[in-house]
Amino acid sequence: MIKLRYIIALLLSIIIVASCDNRHLETEEQEAIMQDGEFEGLGEGRSGMIKLAIEVRNHIITAIRIISQSESKFAQPAEQQIIDAVLQKQTVEGIDAISGATLTSRGMLTAIGMAIDASKGVWKEEAEYTDTTCDIVVIGAGGAGMAAAIQAASMGANVIVLEKQGIIGGNTNYATGGLNAAETSVQKSQGIQDSKKSHFDDTMVGGYRLNDSSLVATLVEKAPDAVDWLISFGADMSNVGKLAGSSQKRTHRPEGGAAVGPHIMAVLSRAVQEKNITVRTRNKVTSLISDNGKVTGVNVETANGQYRIEAKAVIIATGGFGANLTMVENYRPQFKGFNTSNHNGATGDAFKWVSSLNVPLVDIDQIQIHPTGEKGSHILITEAVRGNGAILVNRQGVRFANEMLTRDKLSDAILGQTGKSVFIVFDQSVRESLAAIENYSQQGLMVTANTTTQLAQALGIPEGAFVETMDKYGKWQASGIDGEFGRKGEEMPRPLNQPPYYAIEVEPVLHHTMGGIKINSNAEVVDSNGKAIEGLYAAGEVTGGVHGGNRLGGNAVADIIVYGRIAGTSAAESVLK
Ligand code: FAD
Ligand code: SIN
Repeated sequence: MIKLRYIIALLLSIIIVASCDNRHLETEEQEAIMQDGEFEGLGEGRSGMIKLAIEVRNHIITAIRIISQSESKFAQPAEQQIIDAVLQKQTVEGIDAISGATLTSRGMLTAIGMAIDASKGVWKEEAEYTDTTCDIVVIGAGGAGMAAAIQAASMGANVIVLEKQGIIGGNTNYATGGLNAAETSVQKSQGIQDSKKSHFDDTMVGGYRLNDSSLVATLVEKAPDAVDWLISFGADMSNVGKLAGSSQKRTHRPEGGAAVGPHIMAVLSRAVQEKNITVRTRNKVTSLISDNGKVTGVNVETANGQYRIEAKAVIIATGGFGANLTMVENYRPQFKGFNTSNHNGATGDAFKWVSSLNVPLVDIDQIQIHPTGEKGSHILITEAVRGNGAILVNRQGVRFANEMLTRDKLSDAILGQTGKSVFIVFDQSVRESLAAIENYSQQGLMVTANTTTQLAQALGIPEGAFVETMDKYGKWQASGIDGEFGRKGEEMPRPLNQPPYYAIEVEPVLHHTMGGIKINSNAEVVDSNGKAIEGLYAAGEVTGGVHGGNRLGGNAVADIIVYGRIAGTSAAESVLK
């Protein structure tokens, strides 16, 4: 039965393809069937990323193999049930999460869905490509690139997205804490009073007013629309929390405090598929093609050779350079030896492409370290853990700063402590408030104890001082006034007195590169005279100016959706006019 369906689909696709011009050929094909081969997918489970591969033979999924994951052994039956269901139905549509293992099964379904998309050619790996043309090339399949592509395609442009990695999502896959927006429909439904002005002021203050205020004004103006836009594609943005530097609760993420990035990528990739947008993975852009100062395409490198795409517009959405340690050290020698939270494709490839176009790199030396990376690894302990109540304690067993200071200040404070690392400490009530914490538990990062005395013993810090610290914090919390470090009442949402108690050793890690390509509020790339470069747009972490000298938690995901959409709109308007 299944085979028959696919044979009919194959025949139909051949008929459709035969009647199309070459530009649409791939798109129609990918609509119809899964191609044979092995295809990878990625999804956020309960305990971190689940990476798997599906095997497709004769256009049918014949096997699903888990490549890596950190789910507990108790999740294995649920994983097998999901695998069996997909093998039987040949789709993830209509398959429900398994109760008791909801997050694991959702992660499995996301990963399998991504792999199925890959098999349909929604993103293609290492195929042979020849020179071609299209309206718009988007470079980078992270959040900014996907938002730009969806926006441009929905206005009628023919778009190709190029991604150098084997998988889509870039750093966006790892975003956890949330997306900042003020005056949103979600805030209103929850009675949260906020204003775009407050979002603007917080962003400027957090960035030491180095920010380009016109870019910030656009960011805060359009951020609530970005939330609604994501919701319109099926995103869940219903959990609203508060991160450091924000005056109000405005950081949006899925229910239960689950990680925002993998969810958004799953939603965007589904929309990309629905709009038949071509995404080519393992297609690395090596340079721009330009003619008399106008950008007219890109040169691309694949495992099978090089080719070029002539396009009416190019959108650069290649992300930051937080994994290019040479570049980081060049701009900030003091960060030598720091771990990074970034995916390894964050290497800043685009900066050399624009130098011949006289495009300035704004604030390129503004590099953010995040205070709470797990010591010695690339795993980020989300700021939302502190936002939901955790404190930081040093080796003397005492607090040393307001845990809700902005990242640069708090990182400096941690680096001033003995051993340059400290412990993030929380209780069961904080754990229950934030699903993201389950990932840390399953990865074995958390030290657990039934009493504060036992936790101090397990951490090897002075018991008396630590117990006193916890008691004192409970009193500050109850009174709403942190008499020691000035943490605000609403930033101490829990008294930290519900056992068990937990701790993770943390240290500052390289996290975000605030500087980059200069753009204007239309996401046009501009030269050092402020003149827009014809045919060239940029969005997301590759750009500079939005975040100034220090990005607030939650503002990057807002940035990539807002400016990704603007870049898509501006490029589509210019090529379709
Ligand atoms: P990316 O998502 O990194 O995508 C860029 C893509 O371009 C990548 O896939 C890359 O491989 C590709 N690419 C690069 N060069 C080339 C080339 N030459 N050719 C083709 N493709 C190329 N921000 C928040 O606001 N809230 C959060 O909760 C949050 N949590 C975070 C947690 C972690 C661990 C990290 C690392 C960052 C977090 N951030 C968060 C920051 C935020 O996730 C990023 O700034 C944002 O996702 C960047 O999106 P982007 O689309 O600009 O780039
Ligand atoms: C985090 O979850 O702590 C990261 C948030 C961000 O980088 O904006």
